[in-house]
Amino acid sequence: MIEFRDVTVIYDNDIIGLENVSFKIEKGEFVFLVGKTGAGKSSAIKLLTGEIKPYAGDVIVNGITVNTLKNKKLPYLRRSVGVVFQDFRLLPNKTVYENVAFAMEVVRARKKDIRRKVPTILSLVGLSGRAKNYPNELSGGEQQRVCIARALVNSPAIVIADEPTGNLDAETADEIMKLLMEINRMGTTIVMVTHSEKIVNDARRRVIQLESGVVVRDEMEGGYALDVLA
Ligand SMILES: Nc1ncnc2c1ncn2[C@@H]1O[C@H](COP(=O)(O)OP(=O)(O)OP(=O)(O)O)[C@@H](O)[C@H]1O
Ligand SMILES: [Mg+2]
Repeated sequence: MIEFRDVTVIYDNDIIGLENVSFKIEKGEFVFLVGKTGAGKSSAIKLLTGEIKPYAGDVIVNGITVNTLKNKKLPYLRRSVGVVFQDFRLLPNKTVYENVAFAMEVVRARKKDIRRKVPTILSLVGLSGRAKNYPNELSGGEQQRVCIARALVNSPAIVIADEPTGNLDAETADEIMKLLMEINRMGTTIVMVTHSEKIVNDARRRVIQLESGVVVRDEMEGGYALDVLA
């Protein structure tokens, strides 16, 4: 489903983002990506979404070799990978419904499919009653639900979330985690970056830990345990 083969990321100023990173994630897994600030977590996520390219190595996502993907083929990747952001990144001048519909419009889905799919997904994330509201009329937790609905609406095989609970209080974070777990149970592979010790320790899922661009731990039912090197 996801494979990193000897992946190295180097930024313009010769800063190393990742160095010889290799791992495989199978279909249906729920994987936490942890590590201190600057460890390379977002670099790994940005490779999966095609936002950056590796300096060396291969990144394979749902059968697509992302590093050799031509820009015009990027929509194929966008259909395979849904992304949830810490800061939601909703369009302020579109309603909840329109925000989710827009994700389908950019991959040129048919109008008929959009009309059918958007209400289904909004109901899945518990936001049917908020379809006509604008993002600034919603709580943080509700905005994150919209973001998750938008990530799911094209039925991606994989959902990538970079600190999806980072801006939420503990209780709301819990609700969002339940929703992500539920989506995972339905078969979607999930890769989630988090700094929350509690979330990782509660979930007992696979944990990949990065330090200075290198994988230092890969445990099937891991805890947060950041100090393995200390
Ligand atoms: N666009 C960029 N240009 C230059 N250096 C970058 C860029 N993005 C990241 N880096 C550097 O690459 C390294 C890894 O950064 P990355 O953003 O992947 O870390 P992270 O694990 O996501 O950290 P955080 O927990 O703070 O989000 C850091 O040293 C960072 O300064
Ligand atoms: Mg980051």
